[in-house]
Amino acid sequence: MKKLYAVLGNPISQSMSPQMHNDLFAYYNIDAHYHPLLVKDESLADAVKGLKAIGASGFNVTVPHKSSIIPLLDEIDPLAREIGAVNTVVNQDGKLIGYNTDGPGFLKGLNGLLPEIKGKNILIIGAGGAARAIYFTLAKAGAKNIDIYNRTAARAQELINSCSFPVISNAVSMERAEGSLDQYDLIIQTTLIGMFPNTGEKPLDLEGAKSGCVVCDIIYNPLETMFLHNAKKKGLPIQNGIDMFVFQGAIAFEKWTGIFPDTDRMKKNVLKQLGGTIC
Ligand code: ATR
Repeated sequence: MKKLYAVLGNPISQSMSPQMHNDLFAYYNIDAHYHPLLVKDESLADAVKGLKAIGASGFNVTVPHKSSIIPLLDEIDPLAREIGAVNTVVNQDGKLIGYNTDGPGFLKGLNGLLPEIKGKNILIIGAGGAARAIYFTLAKAGAKNIDIYNRTAARAQELINSCSFPVISNAVSMERAEGSLDQYDLIIQTTLIGMFPNTGEKPLDLEGAKSGCVVCDIIYNPLETMFLHNAKKKGLPIQNGIDMFVFQGAIAFEKWTGIFPDTDRMKKNVLKQLGGTIC
């Protein structure tokens, strides 16, 4: 019987996951379909119950349900519990198990540019949901130091205080971040700064960054933000948000099917989807 997968969110029509996963199901000859489901806050519990009742094999969860879904599931993976957000659910013999593949997806996507996180000094810009998933994942992977610069410093400090993995962290101002940029091996931009239509904005000046420092932006519209453009001009290795998106999907696909999919194929699919809307 055809297996059912889905993504739950609101809004959902913009999601690139259905096309990406349906292409993989066809490519690997898996009799399955992945469907976008518009789910309002007040319907989330019913939607999860319904998916369980009809035996859906798994689903993704996106904004605004990543945290509120947690009490509705049977088991939560420890990293997802620590992050406080689930984006992937696996139906294992009738039990719904929640995972977070956003942080691990970022880490795996980074592998080509920075294979080892242990002992690294890192700066994260932003303290929202995406920053949280990345921060906990990198702390768990053994980063030595992860500083956070956020417009609202208190939110950065809260994020640091909530982490139980052993990592040295400070909530830093923009001035302090810019002044000590040469200590970082990796800088990750996780805010909306520079996203279409505000493509002229950047969160900080990369003048002081050391040679070889990897600069990431989780935005993919535009594919090259002003921040990444400036990093590239300085000769620094850069990565945009496509990798994190593709690799979170690849890890979810592996959890559902046991197959780690062809991420180059997935990237091509996503770039094709973005082709129509990218600025
Ligand atoms: P996400 O889940 O995508 O990370 P979020 O939880 O709403 O989204 O977090 C958005 C992040 O972008 C926050 O760090 C936010 O800063 P504040 O905590 O100060 O709100 C940051 N952000 C969004 N718009 C910004 C802007 N115009 N300038 C600076 N930071 C911005």
